[in-house]
Amino acid sequence: RTAPPCTLVIFGAHGDLTKRLLMPALYNLVGSHLLDDGFRIIGVDRVDSTAAQWRDGLRAMMESFTHDPNAEFHPATINADQWDWLAGRLDYVQADFTDVDAIRALGAKIPGNAIFYLAIPSRFFAPVVETLGKAGVVTQKEGVFRRVVIEKPFGSDLASAQTLNRQVLSVLDESQVFRIDHFLGKETVQNILAMRFGNLIFEPLWRNEYVDHIEITAAETIGVEQRGAFYEPTGALRDMVPNHLFQLFAMVAMEPPNTFCAESVRNAKEQLFEAVTPISPSDAVRGQYAAGTVDGRPMVGYRESPGVSPHSNTETYVALKLHVDNWRWAGVPFYLRTGKGLGGRRTEVVVQFRKPPMLMFSGTETEDLPPNRIILNIQPAQGLTVELGAKKPGPEMDLTDVQARFRYEDVFTRSPNVGYETLLYDCLMGDQTLFQRADNIEAAWKAVDPVLQAWAKDETGPEIYEAGSSGPKGAEELLRRDGRTWYPLNGA
Ligand code: BG6
Repeated sequence: RTAPPCTLVIFGAHGDLTKRLLMPALYNLVGSHLLDDGFRIIGVDRVDSTAAQWRDGLRAMMESFTHDPNAEFHPATINADQWDWLAGRLDYVQADFTDVDAIRALGAKIPGNAIFYLAIPSRFFAPVVETLGKAGVVTQKEGVFRRVVIEKPFGSDLASAQTLNRQVLSVLDESQVFRIDHFLGKETVQNILAMRFGNLIFEPLWRNEYVDHIEITAAETIGVEQRGAFYEPTGALRDMVPNHLFQLFAMVAMEPPNTFCAESVRNAKEQLFEAVTPISPSDAVRGQYAAGTVDGRPMVGYRESPGVSPHSNTETYVALKLHVDNWRWAGVPFYLRTGKGLGGRRTEVVVQFRKPPMLMFSGTETEDLPPNRIILNIQPAQGLTVELGAKKPGPEMDLTDVQARFRYEDVFTRSPNVGYETLLYDCLMGDQTLFQRADNIEAAWKAVDPVLQAWAKDETGPEIYEAGSSGPKGAEELLRRDGRTWYPLNGA
């Protein structure tokens, strides 16, 4: 279904996000014929440039991706018709983000629907929303929508997230606010709900009678690279946990929503988040990478990276244990970990089941048979792996562990996707299912707040781990004390 006509106003037109992800996603949406003829884009930034220069810069950037296999967007060529369709709709306004008169003048150019996309540093979120309000450009009329997309990080702790929500909601109605978390744009993340609630075979087992524990991992090989200035005051916990990892957690652990519509899904998330016990600092481990070798290449230590203090105590790795106090999950720990500069890149959820009540087979391998696991492979592997015990061929009744796999690449042809297509399209359609509601964000911050506060006071700092390793020893210890071990980073 083609989205309604709309003007997309991008604050931060010259920024990285716009170039690397938003434009490619819009280009892909053009290819899918999902945008209306009346679709327009106005880029806003302080950079002195003309609309033509902005367009040409974007085109050159898109072109450069065709030579960059590591880019999220990596088409063989840029389709001229597709690009021209988009380019013909691009306009540029040079303005300060908080210049009320300039934004009012910009608003005068937009007769109908509009989305204001804040692809800007988070310190501008509240002032820009205030400016939009004062300029009168977010007032909705009958049949005309005005929406605002807000990127992450949404706050830096519970108190600041609450303040930001208050500021935003003093100008906008919740139905106008689209707080984005790009993990929800990933096919494999959405697929967790499809697996759980589109099939019967998982749900009956998806509970504490059968599940021993659940691990959620987002391991990255890349370091902080050029993002030191952003990362220093942020750290791995704020950067990844209350947003991305909590979204994975929600998909895996929430109760079935009544319907797949925004309020039902977000209510189900809220119900889950409210059941999370605020994390005790003794259930949290932080690490920071030192120089090492990743994928055969030397990596400088975090403290030697540009924009980073040589004495930095910012964590580049975090592991946490989460307790969920509800009927389904009582007694089942959720272990979350994420880090940069690690030996393997993988985002996955491992659901580890309990052992069978007894084993009647007595072969030598049977004795060491690992428990069943269901692994939801988010990236780079995409799919689902089930680990089972099976009889080894031969006269003896001996069992060994085997894997059954579903892989996206075996079944689906790849459609161009940088992860923002669905989210942009949903915003045009007014569907908030994949966006964060104010209470969801606050509940996630509430869960991690005790850890943030304890770490701010504790001068011991993070445990150092070598780049290219599997992270700090403390993370192993977190599970060992419960008699468990992490699923290996180089596993299935
Ligand atoms: C971003 C974080 O939100 O997510 C980055 O700021 C992180 O530090 C990135 O690398 C991970 O996203 P993805 O899609 O590459 O897994």
